[in-house]
Amino acid sequence: MTEAAKSATILVIDDDAEIRYSLSRVLSSHGYRVTEAPSGEQGVALVRKGPAPDLVFLDVRMGGMGGIEALQLIRSAQPKQLVILMTAFGTAQTAIEAMKYGAFDYVMKPFDPQKVLSLAAAALKTRADLHAVSDYKPSINSEDYKEGIVGSSPVMQDVFKVIGQVTASDVTVMITGESGTGKELVARSIWKHSHRASKAFIAVNCAAIPDNLIESELFGHERGSFTGATGQRLGKFELCDSGTIFLDEIGDMALATQTKILRVLQAGEIQRVGGTETIRVNVRVIAATNKDLEQMVKAKTFREDLYYRLNVVRIKMPPLRERGDDIPQIVDFCLQNLVKQKKARVSKVSPEAMAAFVAHDWPGNVRELENVVYRSAVIAQGDAILLKDLPAEIRAATGTEPTVAATPAGGVGEGNLATTLTAVAESTALATAKIVAESTASGEPALTVERALDYLYANLSTETEGLLPQVERELITRAMAAQNGDVTKAAKQLGLTKAALQKKL
Ligand SMILES: Nc1ncnc2c1ncn2[C@@H]1O[C@H](COP(=O)(O)OP(=O)(O)OP(=O)(O)O)[C@@H](O)[C@H]1O
Ligand SMILES: [Mg+2]
Repeated sequence: MTEAAKSATILVIDDDAEIRYSLSRVLSSHGYRVTEAPSGEQGVALVRKGPAPDLVFLDVRMGGMGGIEALQLIRSAQPKQLVILMTAFGTAQTAIEAMKYGAFDYVMKPFDPQKVLSLAAAALKTRADLHAVSDYKPSINSEDYKEGIVGSSPVMQDVFKVIGQVTASDVTVMITGESGTGKELVARSIWKHSHRASKAFIAVNCAAIPDNLIESELFGHERGSFTGATGQRLGKFELCDSGTIFLDEIGDMALATQTKILRVLQAGEIQRVGGTETIRVNVRVIAATNKDLEQMVKAKTFREDLYYRLNVVRIKMPPLRERGDDIPQIVDFCLQNLVKQKKARVSKVSPEAMAAFVAHDWPGNVRELENVVYRSAVIAQGDAILLKDLPAEIRAATGTEPTVAATPAGGVGEGNLATTLTAVAESTALATAKIVAESTASGEPALTVERALDYLYANLSTETEGLLPQVERELITRAMAAQNGDVTKAAKQLGLTKAALQKKL
């Protein structure tokens, strides 16, 4: 511990004289300068009067003003005040309330002196770290990146050049690269700069649609062409006429469908499933895959002629680990967007945390980085992401993790709040965790339809079309699955009559 940290001032607020005494002893014997307040009211008054202490230990249950109320008053007087709550009741309720009102952490009574000391040290380290980033300068201004593609590494500059070259014509473009490297982003950018910008852009994820449905999805079908085809339906190619179609995960397309795609590319013609009419379509095709198509051609799982047709111009998206220099820019870009979308208030990153972002390998590339930045920003307790806010496996990359921050984590209800939330985020689907973390921070119930939709909208491209039928189909499928195929129960959940649901099914 540094000398500066040792001479830090700590205010202990508790109505129990014995607790004040024993806590003060532990803390002052380690060099901290301790003051005491015997009630919430007096504690709040001391903080208001100033100078504010470096750290406050605050009891939750007190006669008169309770700890949670005192916490709120203290934080509204001193928004950056670090407070550690003390409680004999380690319930989830306490943890959530403490977090909601901005406590740094909480500690269980009776105290373990070691735990008290390590928490105090972690809090003061946080304070020093936050202080050290007060003059943070972001590496970019997101306003300058309307395109949404960030990166100034030479490999990305090459990507930008090729995007520029292919926008003037209708040439077919093949975008390859690992998951999360920005393939779809690039496809949209090509479309937006092309002469088809005012026409449709439709993305089809070939991997997400079962083989038996993909042809109908792409080319449409005639009434009665297969069981369930109760009416004529137009496919994406027809709907996208004079627009741009993005065939994502093309490597997952069955050979039979590949043949039909080849026909569109060669002759500009399609036939609906079950139909005889030949329909001319004028569609620009952009394809993407994270598979090794050359290998698939060799293994005869991807048609060679289609491969050459698609691969007229190739854009290879570099993985993040080949453009480490871009990482700080992407981190700043994500943070500025989160602030703009009011999903987080954090706009700074400590040098240690940034070094960890840069050092990590990022198998999930930009998408993974984006998710981690989001999660860390939600967990961060001040206006900066610190090393302690990052998931353990990313902190590990730097090898500089200070031992003092690593307080042993208990389950929910005890231990370091940041660690607890990180554990929650790690053990739940990330999407859900985001909502939970956000809503506990804002004090709303964990997951309502409204919050789930907020999440959907926040992550949905504004170009998405045909949302309502898609959502309806998803909801019906899920309700049926959730009710084990019981139409009556599913109808009840959906708010439909049984007859209405049967018709839709
Ligand atoms: N260069 C970049 N600058 C800023 N954001 C980026 C960049 N590249 C990708 N992203 C973001 O990362 C996320 C993933 O990008 P995208 O969906 O385009 O990747 P992908 O290659 O299609 O991934 P997958 O193979 O998993 O479908 C998106 O939210 C996108 O906005
Ligand atoms: Mg994609």
